[in-house]
Amino acid sequence: GKTIVVTGTSSGIGAEVARLARFQGATVIGVDRNDPSLTLDGFVKADLSTVEAINAAVAQLPQRIDAFCNIAGVPGTASGELVATVNYLGLRHLTEQVLPRVPRGGSIVNVASILGAEWPQRLALHKELAAAQGFEAGAKWLRTHEVPHETCYQYFKEALIVWSAVQSQKWFMEKGVRMNCVAPGPVFTPILGDFVSMLGEERVQKDAHRMLRPGFADEIAPVIAWLCSDASRWVSGANIPVDGGLASTYI
Ligand code: NAI
Repeated sequence: GKTIVVTGTSSGIGAEVARLARFQGATVIGVDRNDPSLTLDGFVKADLSTVEAINAAVAQLPQRIDAFCNIAGVPGTASGELVATVNYLGLRHLTEQVLPRVPRGGSIVNVASILGAEWPQRLALHKELAAAQGFEAGAKWLRTHEVPHETCYQYFKEALIVWSAVQSQKWFMEKGVRMNCVAPGPVFTPILGDFVSMLGEERVQKDAHRMLRPGFADEIAPVIAWLCSDASRWVSGANIPVDGGLASTYI
């Protein structure tokens, strides 16, 4: 069986991915700042918001990681710095640290969001940020490019989609490791309410009328599990919406 490391395993989508992957026979190691509420094969307690904590967490992970899922994330109601670090800069750093342990044929899955769908409007900026490789260079680039707090969640999900696409090209060619994003629409998890505060009632109502209902974590997890599996071996650099068709209504 595969060894799969999942961040954000103590709640919502990450917990459901861990449950499903174990059910399918994988050995699942969780990483979260909170203790897990389900049985895992291993768990590393870490607050993934500083380079030091990320490095300490990586040191405790297995030497071979067949699939790595970046699912931990904070909503835009958190501080701008936390959103930048946990959802993007730290995620990048963590993934770079883990990469040497991912064998040829391995897979990396990043959870983006439907709220990152407007990445083409800022493509040049996001490509520049992706090119500022490493945590320090990325942080330095961000110090000279102001990101408004109201839209920082969207900005860093956009940046994640662009970085994943750009970076996956190199890693697939050179290392045979795939990297993809999954972009959920609204999902019933503890952070769903935070999106109402972030987006305002009007936007949320508009989206609500375009959807049957928010999704459930067990409707997102199978797509992530599939991206971890060999069945998706020819899928790399993609961003797969899992949103009950919501994104298609923006066309
Ligand atoms: P959640 O709040 O249920 O789970 C997030 C998990 O990440 C929690 O267990 C939390 O402890 C962990 N986490 C947060 N910051 C951390 C840190 N600094 N260090 C370690 N662990 C940390 O939320 P949910 O909904 O399961 O979110 C998972 C991912 O899905 C996030 O990246 C989120 O942005 C994304 N997403 C969620 C949507 C939704 O409507 N729920 C929609 C689109 C994307």
